[in-house]
Parts: sequence; structure tokens; C-alpha cells
Amino acid sequence: MDVTVDDVPPGSATEPAAAVVWHDLECGGYGADMELWRELAADARAAAPSASILDVGAGSGRVTLALAGRGHALTALDLDPLLLSALRERAARAGLAIESVCMDARRIALERRDFGLCVIPMQTIQLLGGAEGRLAFLRGAREHLRAGALVACAIVTELEPFDCATGDVGPSPETMLVGGTHYSSRATAVKLTPQLVRIERQRTVARAGEQRISLNVIELDRVSAAELAREGRRAGLTLHAVREIEATDEHVGSEVVVLRA
Ligand SMILES: C[S@@+](CC[C@H](N)C(=O)[O-])C[C@H]1O[C@@H](n2cnc3c(N)ncnc32)[C@H](O)[C@@H]1O
Repeated sequence: MDVTVDDVPPGSATEPAAAVVWHDLECGGYGADMELWRELAADARAAAPSASILDVGAGSGRVTLALAGRGHALTALDLDPLLLSALRERAARAGLAIESVCMDARRIALERRDFGLCVIPMQTIQLLGGAEGRLAFLRGAREHLRAGALVACAIVTELEPFDCATGDVGPSPETMLVGGTHYSSRATAVKLTPQLVRIERQRTVARAGEQRISLNVIELDRVSAAELAREGRRAGLTLHAVREIEATDEHVGSEVVVLRA
């Protein structure tokens, strides 16, 4: 097989269809958090039966579609139009009416100001450019919630560093076959600095006897539950609870900081 290696800068997508496949491959299989989102959604409905849920950083719809499938009204917000387009296609196929908005989480500006719950799963709040970005998101979310509603932010705080380049084994790859194309993604390093968690993945696309390898890098801002609670207070939110999501064989555990408007 011919092998080409190139570096893809953080956040860039090599081709539209592939952007959705990588998202599904690297995020779509995660399910350990779903019980908590279902519980919070049910509580929001009990408090206000007509309340809508705002899913921030909704991606291709892992959480949005699951909650909409249980009869909740959902607005899916994401910066990436390709992922939202996949989400809309999936919702249409499942017969689910979902509102979607392509918008930066740090500048939420929606007509509806009475959401009954805002969720920001899978560490998306750690992608917002540090404390300033998180505060902008929290203030915006606060303005869009009804009084007493919750905003639930999943964060990862405990990550073990490793580096396959220095002999560490690392996790096994996640793979997917789409049409005749094999996609494979393998985390090859987690590197910690005082401010950031840098996650490196090797992505391989194999099609018709050719193989293309690229490096994908995601950098998460480091933040603790206590810091997020303090930022919430500055945004007019009070701490309601900190919930734990257990680690699985494939995914690290996380904390969900739940703030009340
Ligand atoms: C880790 S994925 C989570 C996807 C989905 N919520 C899930 O749990 O499967 C992070 C998502 O946040 C989106 N995102 C990153 N920065 C954003 C921003 N500033 N505003 C809105 N969405 C953002 C990305 O496009 C991506 O879909």
C-alpha cells in the first residue's frame, strides 16, 4: 500500500463527508453520559412541561437525537454546518422535528429565552478559548434559560498522559467502514500543560489500495469543577450539583457541573 503522511492543523477537516465520519467515529460511540442527560431532561419536563432543551456543541446529534426520540423539544446549536446538516438529515429520517442553529456558543443569540435545560456534553466547554470564552457562554446560556432552569457542563479533569512515540501502548483504534472506505482513529498521545490537555490522534483512511494517514490534534482548556462553579457565579448561575460520569473501557470519566439560573 502507498502511505502518505500529512499533518492536519487543529480543527480542520480534510473533506466534508469525512468530517462527519470522524465526528461519529470519535464521539458517536460514547454513551456513558446519556443516562444523566435523560434524567435532567425528564426533570426539566416535570418542572415545565413545554420547556425546550438547548444542546450546545450538538455535533451530528448524539445527544439531541436521543432526547428528541424521548419526546423532548430540542434546539441543537453548533459552529460546524456540516455536522448540523448530518444532524438534520438524521432527524428527518427518524421523523423528529428539531430546531438547529449554526452559532458560536460564546455568542448565543436566540429568540427563545425560556429554555428549561441547557446541556453542553463531551467537554465542549473546554473548547471555548479559556475562562473568557466559558464566561461568555455561561452568560449567554443564562440569558436564554427560564428562572430555575439548569445548565449542565461536562468536563474532563483526570487524564493520564501517554505518548506512543515514547513506547506507551495507548488505546486500540476505533474503526468504521463507510462505503468502500475504512476509517480508523487511534489516540496516540495525551500531553498535559498547566493550561491545556493536548490529545493527538492518528487518523487513517484506506480506500482502493491506498492509505492516507493524518495527525489530528484537539486541545482542551483545563478547568476544575470549582473554577467552573466560580465562573457560573460570575454569570449569575448558582451551583446545583457536581455529578460524576464513570470511566468506561474506551473513555475516561468526567464530571458534570450543573448550574442553576
Ligand atoms: C466533542 S464534540 C461533542 C459533540 C456532541 N455534543 C456529542 O456529545 O457527541 C464538540 C462539538 O462542539 C462543537 N463546537 C466547538 N466549538 C464550538 C463553539 N465555539 N460553538 C459551538 N459549537 C462548538 C464542535 O463543532 C463539535 O460538534
